[in-house]
Amino acid sequence: MKLTIIGAGNVGATTAHLAALQGVAREIVLLDIVEGIPQGKALDIYESLPIVGRDCRVIGTNSYQDTANSDIVVITAGVPRKPGMSRDDLLTTNAGIVKSCAEQAIAYSPHAFYIVVSNPLDVMTYLTLKITGLPRTRVVGMAGVLDTARFRTFIAMELGVSVSDISAMVLGGHGDSMVPLVRYTTVAGVPLAELLPPERIAALVQRTRDGGAEIVAYLKTGSAYYAPAAAVVQMIAAVADDRKQILPCAVFLEGEYGLSDVVCGVPVKLGRSGVEEIFQLELTEAEQEALHRSAADVRRTIARMEELLQQAAS
Ligand code: NAI
Ligand code: 2OP
Repeated sequence: MKLTIIGAGNVGATTAHLAALQGVAREIVLLDIVEGIPQGKALDIYESLPIVGRDCRVIGTNSYQDTANSDIVVITAGVPRKPGMSRDDLLTTNAGIVKSCAEQAIAYSPHAFYIVVSNPLDVMTYLTLKITGLPRTRVVGMAGVLDTARFRTFIAMELGVSVSDISAMVLGGHGDSMVPLVRYTTVAGVPLAELLPPERIAALVQRTRDGGAEIVAYLKTGSAYYAPAAAVVQMIAAVADDRKQILPCAVFLEGEYGLSDVVCGVPVKLGRSGVEEIFQLELTEAEQEALHRSAADVRRTIARMEELLQQAAS
C-alpha cells in the first residue's frame, strides 16, 4: 500500500507518523510546497521506525512525480484556523490550494482513494470530487470520525467511564450545525438519555460542536491535529485492510437522506473498494431537519466557492 499525504504541516506529518507506527502502508510519501519541510519530517519519521520495529519507506518531497501510483492520497494542504475564525473563513485560500493539489495528484494517481482533510471540509471534498472526476466511492472527507471521537470523549469524561464503552455517531457538515445523534448514542449498550439529564446532554452536544474552536482557543496559532490525524489513520486502515468498517464520513449524496448534489457526513462502510455502502439511519423529523439545515450550510458555501473559482478564472 502506497500512501501519499499532501501537506506536511501538523495534520499531515502527524498522520504520516501514526500511519508509519501502525504499519498501515509499505511506503509513505509526504509532500509539501515548502522545500525541506517534508524531507526533514519524513526522514525524522523514518528514523523512528527501527526503534519501534516497523518497516516502511517514508519519503519527503516537493514533486508529485514521487506520488505516482499511490493507493491512498490524503489532502491536508491549506491554512488552519486562528482564534475567532470559522472553518468557512478559510474558503478563499484553501479552495485554490486544494484545487491545485487535487489536479496534480490525480494526474499521477488516477486510481487512488482520496481522503480530504482541508477545511471547510465538506466543500473541499466536493471540490476534490469535481476536480478529480472520480466516482463518489473514491473521494471522502474526514470529519465525522473526529467529531464523533470528541463527543465520545466528552461523554466518557462526564460519566467517568472508558471511551471504548461509548458508541456514537455525529452526522452532517463539519461546522457549527453538525448533528450529534443522541438517540443513537449508548454507553455499554445503555441509551445515553437514560444516564444523563437532557441539560447535560445538550451541553455535551454543544461542546462537540465547538470542539475544534476549543482547541484553537488554546493553541492560538493553529488548530487540532492529534485527534484529526488519528481519525484519518482509522479511515486509511479501514480501506487498506478491507475492514468494512462503518464510519461517519463526508460523501457526495445522490438522494440518500433526501439530499442530492451536496457533500455531507453520513455513516458509510469503508473497505478495499472505498465507500462500499452508504447507510441510511431511521431519523426522527427533528433529526432529519437538523441534517438538512447542516447540508444547507454546506450548499451555501459550495455556491460561494464556485463564484470565487469563476472569478479567479475570469
Ligand atoms: P498546517 O499549517 O500545520 O499545515 C498545512 C501545510 O499545507 C503546510 O505545511 C503548508 O506548507 C502546506 N501547503 C500549503 N499550500 C500547499 C500546496 N499548494 N501544496 C502542498 N502543500 C501546501 O495546518 P494543519 O493544522 O496541518 O491543517 C491543515 C488543514 O486541515 C487546515 O485547512 C485545517 O483547517 C484542516 N483540518 C481539518 C480537520 C478536519 O476535521 N477535517 C481537522 C484538522 C485540521
Ligand atoms: C477541527 O475540528 C480544525 O476542523 C478542525 O479541529
